[in-house]
Amino acid sequence: MGKDIKNICCIGAGYVGGPTMAVIALKNPQIQVNIVDINEQRITDWNDTDLDKLPIYEPGLKEVVEETRNKNLFFSTDVDTAIDNADMIFISVNTPTKTYGKGKGQAADLKYIELCARQIARVSKTDKIVVEKSTLPVRTAEALQGILSSTGNGVKFEILSNPEFLAEGTAIDDLLIPDRVLIGGNNTVSGKEAKNALSSIYEAWIPKERVLQTNVWSSELSKLTANAFLAQRISSINAMSVLCEETEADVDEIARAIGMDSRIGPKFLKSSVGFGGSCFQKDVLNLVYIAKSYGLDEVAEYWDQVIKLNDYQKRRFADKIIKESYNTVSGKKIAFFGWAFKKDTNDTRESAAIYVADHLLDEQADIIVYDPKVSEERIYADLEYLNTHSSEEIRNRVKVVSSHSEAVNNAHAIAILTEWDEFKAYNWKEIYSKVLKPANVFDGRNILDKEKLVNVGFNVYNIGK
Ligand code: UDX
Ligand code: ADP
Repeated sequence: MGKDIKNICCIGAGYVGGPTMAVIALKNPQIQVNIVDINEQRITDWNDTDLDKLPIYEPGLKEVVEETRNKNLFFSTDVDTAIDNADMIFISVNTPTKTYGKGKGQAADLKYIELCARQIARVSKTDKIVVEKSTLPVRTAEALQGILSSTGNGVKFEILSNPEFLAEGTAIDDLLIPDRVLIGGNNTVSGKEAKNALSSIYEAWIPKERVLQTNVWSSELSKLTANAFLAQRISSINAMSVLCEETEADVDEIARAIGMDSRIGPKFLKSSVGFGGSCFQKDVLNLVYIAKSYGLDEVAEYWDQVIKLNDYQKRRFADKIIKESYNTVSGKKIAFFGWAFKKDTNDTRESAAIYVADHLLDEQADIIVYDPKVSEERIYADLEYLNTHSSEEIRNRVKVVSSHSEAVNNAHAIAILTEWDEFKAYNWKEIYSKVLKPANVFDGRNILDKEKLVNVGFNVYNIGK
């Protein structure tokens, strides 16, 4: 089965499915790639002739879509037809943390995956390779296999795990030049054939030695492990930032010093207001849940601490703003520079900005947000989702503006929540003339030139300095 893949279907046109399939289509012009989604608006946006209206902002993405769309890359809501025609189906739907029932707040919610599996089982008339692309808890492939093998119509499915390691903001580069591609599958004859079929798609542009084949469970657990290690590095450096603030040490100097140790390496040592994004928290919580479900309490507690430290870091940042505002932000205007969870993306899932804003709203602050790529509706939706403040209060207290200069008028403080490059290039003298004095800047990303700002007249508060 599946030696020669001619038609691919990807279920889920999101941050993972969209860019990944666009690059696969670009590098495999002989394969027809159909991306399907139940969200009609998303599909309409992907098909928009104005490429600036694509639903996802990702550097380099629109160029790839421009080259492939309606040639061998198609976006549609017709899920059944795309499944039926495909030799290989990628499942790329979202797997958020459960918000109800058993495992609430920790386990991954697999209802979207299960719906997909049932749909594939119902519609398929020919044998297919089904690829898990979404981050999934270990042994999900088993559940998929269970649903798919019970159709009784003789159709055979081979399940592969092919976790995505792209980071948002650099997704296209990560896809074009990945450190590695991981393919997990059964070690049976048909399992090996399926792994080779998927490998050959990647080998169209990636050196063979970077395409690793493992068993399914190793592949699934590798993804959680990679994200847990990365999140742990950030929580580790953030833990040191707290100690630095109490001493004369500077966390960026420490990061530089330890990063030159080749055993440690320089990446992912940037202390910040806290990590966000759709993966880190979800995957670490998932790991905690899995460890607990095997009765491994010590293992669960070890990883849970990564999340606790991250929550503490977000809270600490908000508390610092309050403390330096004479212990009250009630009715004061706090300008937020950035809302996305990192630069170069319009994704806001689990962004630190949401939690810092929520804490400041508890203290009745007025918040003016400027982010170069995030929409007003998204910001309101993020705050409303927390269910801690009424929609009316959020809309009264939080305003979203389309330029940084609008945000700073009569602001009591400026808080940097995302490390967008443009923030560094602003005319800080002009900003100084518009804000209330004392002029306080809270740099939650340590990106600004502190000396320059201090010379202009600002008080600058950093993380870990
Ligand atoms: C992550 C993984 O990097 C990627 O491999 C996986 O497929 C998905 O999850 P992503 O969430 O897109 O990718 O972004 P990443 O660059 O990892 O950043 C995550 C968060 O950590 C961001 O909020 C970022 O600002 C923060 N971060 C990152 C730091 O605070 N300090 C750092 O040194 C690095
Ligand atoms: P990710 O970051 O994992 O790509 P997103 O939320 O950006 O997550 O994208 C997941 C997409 O999957 C969404 O656009 C959602 O509408 C889509 N989706 C979820 N369930 C289904 C389903 N059963 N059939 C088709 N699309 C689905």
